[in-house]
Amino acid sequence: MSAPTSSPIVDEPFPLPQRWGQPEVERLTAAMQQSSLFYWKGPQTEALLAAFREFYPLKHLFPCSSGTASVHLAIAASKFKPGAEVLVPAVTDMGSAIGILHQLLVPVFVDIDPRTYNAPPELIEAAITPRTKAILAVHLTGNPVELDAYRTIADEHDLVLIEDCAQAWGTKFEDRYVGTVGDLACWSFNDYKHLSCGDGGMVGTNDDDIGLHLGKWGDKCYNRITGIRNPDELAYNYRMSEPLSAVCAAQMGKHDAIVQPRTARGRQLSAALADVPGVLPPSIRNQDTPTFYNYIFRLDLPSLSCSQDEFAAALVAEGVNANTYLPDPVYRYDLFQTHNFYAGTWPVRDMGLTEMDYTQVVCPESEKFLNDCVQLPFNEAMTDTYIDKVALAIRTVAQRFSS
Ligand SMILES: Cc1ncc(COP(=O)(O)O)c(C=O)c1O
Repeated sequence: MSAPTSSPIVDEPFPLPQRWGQPEVERLTAAMQQSSLFYWKGPQTEALLAAFREFYPLKHLFPCSSGTASVHLAIAASKFKPGAEVLVPAVTDMGSAIGILHQLLVPVFVDIDPRTYNAPPELIEAAITPRTKAILAVHLTGNPVELDAYRTIADEHDLVLIEDCAQAWGTKFEDRYVGTVGDLACWSFNDYKHLSCGDGGMVGTNDDDIGLHLGKWGDKCYNRITGIRNPDELAYNYRMSEPLSAVCAAQMGKHDAIVQPRTARGRQLSAALADVPGVLPPSIRNQDTPTFYNYIFRLDLPSLSCSQDEFAAALVAEGVNANTYLPDPVYRYDLFQTHNFYAGTWPVRDMGLTEMDYTQVVCPESEKFLNDCVQLPFNEAMTDTYIDKVALAIRTVAQRFSS
């Protein structure tokens, strides 16, 4: 085992982009001169919708307060009866599952593919039961799921396909943007995402009936189109106000400038890591365009004389911004292990609508993945020279730990 190098291989600070600037300031200034900051027919909201549709031309859109809210609205607008099952990958953000639980539905966790980190179509299909009503397709890390296969499965089994594109701004499945294939699609503008206003979201569909409900469910069940204020269903207030829409509209103008360098840098890093011993870059199909929300590679730990944490720490010592990813698959979180969804109870099970017991769920590939993966935060300010240094640091650390 060779010793750590005396000066770090990555000898420059982690590049940080200037994420907000003049376009955001101009829109915010315009908003401050408006007489109202309410979203309905607000000029900033209209600008956001127009800019968003240039990439994702969905008929009905509802800008909302978070990615979590967008998934909740997609689920709620689909109007499933309590106890219906929704298929969700075991590795995702809690925000993918929150709305499902709140609508008294049952998240059914599906294991992931070890190299794409997404739920493979065959496992999605195998998890379908007579109670399954929807698939939540999460494009983890900005790498698309196999959308055509998901679409076929959804159609054959009469399921609603909801795309969770929170980590996948600008990602393309073959020549189509993700978010344009599902029945509904959701995005996040939170601070970590490619495009951001701090916290926000977007949900959309081409379905007229679901589209009307998206707007109503996000706006206390008021019908802004008819002006009728007579809620006929229990809904939420997940509206996005004009200042946040102003920032998001400006961010949409930078969409390509933000996502395209990430694609290039991610591909560069994968090529550089292809022959590094003990390191497994993510599997990406040539015909797809991933946009690398983050870059996650795996370690073949049996061939390395280190743990996941030791590898990540050695990278940090070499100047790489590296860490591990999520601590656990979602079903391992305490609230699932104790079924503590509503003040210590789970009405869905108490009513006999499900026999689900999350203490019995095991998704082996998801567990292995989270125990041997290394995450590199990614952004559009990284240069190819910087990526070369990161790749050299990974190669050096891997060689040091190669047994
Ligand atoms: C895949 C996925 N879905 C949903 C969310 C929830 O988004 P937000 O944090 O905006 O609520 C996130 C956020 O990390 C995410 O990564």
